[in-house]
Amino acid sequence: MLPIGPLMVEHRLIERMIGVIRKKVERWEQEQKIDPDFIDEAVEFIRLYADQCHHGKEEDILFRDLSKKSLPKDLKKTMDELVEEHRQGRKTTLELVEAKSRYVRGDLEALPSILDRLRFLIDFYPRHIEKEDQHFFRPIMDYFTAEEKEALLQEGWEFDKNLIHQIFKAKVGRAEKE
Ligand SMILES: [Fe+2]
Ligand SMILES: [Fe+2]
Repeated sequence: MLPIGPLMVEHRLIERMIGVIRKKVERWEQEQKIDPDFIDEAVEFIRLYADQCHHGKEEDILFRDLSKKSLPKDLKKTMDELVEEHRQGRKTTLELVEAKSRYVRGDLEALPSILDRLRFLIDFYPRHIEKEDQHFFRPIMDYFTAEEKEALLQEGWEFDKNLIHQIFKAKVGRAEKE
């Protein structure tokens, strides 16, 4: 399997969750209210799965090694855009969490911000994924040898294996501080 294989499989799950979030947002726009518990679930998915697990393997493994290669300008530009998009996704998720906290505390004026940030995320992820799947992942594979591709794949499995432990270690650390 190529190192982009697991990443493309992960894209399919992200798309499914984005589909669920889209349905909720459409309903909430009609009803002019939100379900904070579902937002917590969506944020957990985005932060742990889409960002830490998925973007983590992209940035810390695949892009790290790719940036050591002499890439043509267009692929280098796409990689920089993808990293910037990950950053925007993180920033928007943080803004969503902050707006949701205001809403839960009774500030109903936070509702448009919540819907706006959710709209950004459901618009952003499918375009970001399409850019990677259709215009980036396949061409960059040509810059790695068979051995390098296998090493990237193995490092990705190792990353996944360690992640659950990191997540819960961090959770316990936060709980201890509270
Ligand atoms: Fe990405
Ligand atoms: Fe991706």
